[in-house]
Formats: sequence, structure tokens, C-alpha cells
Amino acid sequence: MTLDKLLKGPAPILALAPMQEVTDGAFWTLTHKYGGADVYWTEYLRVHSTSTPEKWIVNDITSNTTGRPVIAQMIGNDIPSLIRTAKFLQQLPVAAIDLNLGCPAPIVYRKCAGGGLLREPQRIDAILGALRDAVQIKFTVKTRLGFATVEEFDQLLEIFARHSLDALTVHGRTVAQMYRLPVHYDRIRQAAERMPCPVIANGHVYSADQAQDLLARTGAGGLMIGRGVIRSPWLFNQIRQQLRGEAVTLPTGRDVWEYIRALWDSQAGADKPEQVQCARMKKFLNYLGEGVPGTFLDQIRRSQTADEFHGICREFLDHDQPMALLPAELNDGYPAAS
Ligand SMILES: Cc1cc2nc3c(=O)[nH]c(=O)nc-3n(C[C@H](O)[C@H](O)[C@H](O)COP(=O)(O)O)c2cc1C
Repeated sequence: MTLDKLLKGPAPILALAPMQEVTDGAFWTLTHKYGGADVYWTEYLRVHSTSTPEKWIVNDITSNTTGRPVIAQMIGNDIPSLIRTAKFLQQLPVAAIDLNLGCPAPIVYRKCAGGGLLREPQRIDAILGALRDAVQIKFTVKTRLGFATVEEFDQLLEIFARHSLDALTVHGRTVAQMYRLPVHYDRIRQAAERMPCPVIANGHVYSADQAQDLLARTGAGGLMIGRGVIRSPWLFNQIRQQLRGEAVTLPTGRDVWEYIRALWDSQAGADKPEQVQCARMKKFLNYLGEGVPGTFLDQIRRSQTADEFHGICREFLDHDQPMALLPAELNDGYPAAS
């Protein structure tokens, strides 16, 4: 389905969040095998006066196997460079260009990019105006609520509302909050009420019933999910089941084990040393491992070889019990309730 139809459609749009060094084309393909998102975001392309679009992200876009729309995300603050990059990107098979106004990494925000821009609303106003004029396809923004406090969101929303955005994704935290709880879903509701375009709610979505509750509470037109999908690629389909009023199917331990093997294969390079491959997998399993009770994650973090890694997976996941794969603070053992 086209992005246009998804945004207009009655069903909430389900998006895979952009995540640096995680949501590459291989991860989109794998997620898609489990039902997948309605739309995929690229990792951000770094944009500045001498930047050229990252080749691997361009390659992810041109070889997208999911059949679902892809949105290309940019991060930066230099208007001519953003326009130049947006013009290049819109010649590729992308459904929209997205601007990142949320990255909380100090190396990014200190350069007044990503979340750093939230400290300079007038600059955001100028960037959005210029990009809206330059982008012929859909133009979207992904933002946090403010830099230091959620009160900043009032002024930011007024600016977002002025620029004919096609969608606004709101991660319900400030930059200062990094990834700490709580997520301010009341502010996402404020955005859904104020914005003339669909608002996509983002932040700490981890189960189908919580997702349904969140859609009702915020009035958002969709959900963007990041770490919850690394933990459980079944999540998008579980949400669809929940919204249709069907029973939600939980994966078994063996299903999870199979997913980890598929992740391993999707990340393996012919020339990648075992230790590098294990390190890469730990990035994913830091999230997935939260959902596995016991010492699974501690052991995985210490593994150095493929044999050790797969041995730990066998020890913890070679079973048929259902797994809710909840985040750490909610995971008190299995069989866990969804
Ligand atoms: C490893 C990692 C990388 C991320 N990279 C990006 C990025 O490139 N662009 C972006 O807008 N957000 C990025 N984010 C933020 C996510 O898109 C999302 O807003 C955040 O994780 C909250 O959603 P979640 O609770 O569903 O994970 C990243 C998050 C993580 C954990």
C-alpha cells in the first residue's frame, strides 16, 4: 500500500523506527518475514556542507525487498545541504523525506543537529520552510518533546503545524531524558489534537494490548516502534491481531531461537571474524535478551565465539513455552502474560 493510502487509511499505520546500525535493509527484510511494518525508515543520513549520502543507506533504499514504502531520514542543520540531499533522495524509490529532530547523542546535539535543534525553534522554522518548498514528495518530521523540558513542546508544535507536514512522529521524551521513563503520552495526544496531519506515536511500545491502549489514549494515527521490534519482530502482527479483536499469538522459546539464528545469518559477512559477529549480535540481544528470564543476557554478553553464543541460546530457548518478550522492567519470568 502507498504511504498516502496508509496515512489516510482507517487502520493505524505501524512503522519500524529508524535505528542506527540496526535497521538496515537486512533487518527490514527479516522484520518483514514476521509480518513487518507498514513503512520502514532508514537510519539517518548525516547532512552537512561536504556530505554525500551514505552509500549503504542508498543501497538499502534501492534494494528494499519488503514491498513496503521506505522513508529516508536526514539529520543536519545546514539548509542548502539539506535541500541538496533531499533533492537527491527524492529521485530514489522513497515515499517521503524525514527530518530528525530527536537524536540525543551529545556528539550530534552539540553540533545543533537532531535533538540539539530543539533548543533553537526559530532555526527549525527556517529549515522546515525551506525543506517543505524543496521536497516534492511527502515530507515528515520525527521529533522529541523538547530539549530540557516537555513545556518546550507547546512552541514547537505551533511551528510544526505551520509547515504542511505530511506526518509528525512524536517520541514522547525530551532530549535530556535520553531513553529514561516516563514517556509523556499526554503530549503525543496534544500533538494529535493540534496537528493538521497524522501523528505517529513513538516510545516504549512493547505489547499488543499496550499498543491498543496507547492508540486510544493518544488519538495518534499510528505507532512507530523501535526496540520493541528488535525484542520481538512478532509485535507488529500481534498488534494487528489485537486491533482485529483476535487472540494474540505469542512465539515459543524455539521460535525466538529461530529468530536469533535468522538474525545471525542476516548479519553475517563472509569475512567477518567470529568475535566481530558476536559483538554485532550483542547489539540486538541487549534488547531481545531483556525478554528472556534468568541469566541469558549476562551470559550472552560474555560470549566470544559462535559455539558459546549458540550454546547459550540452546540452553535458554529450546522449549515450547510461550514468550511475551517484555522489556526488563516488566519481565518477571515466563510463561509471561502479554
Ligand atoms: C540503537 C538506536 C539507534 C537509533 N537511531 C535513530 C536514528 O537513526 N534516527 C532516529 O530518528 N531515531 C533513532 N533512534 C530512536 C528510535 O527511532 C526511537 O525513537 C526510540 O528508540 C524510541 O522508540 P522505542 O521505545 O520504540 O525504541 C535510535 C534508537 C536506538 C535504540
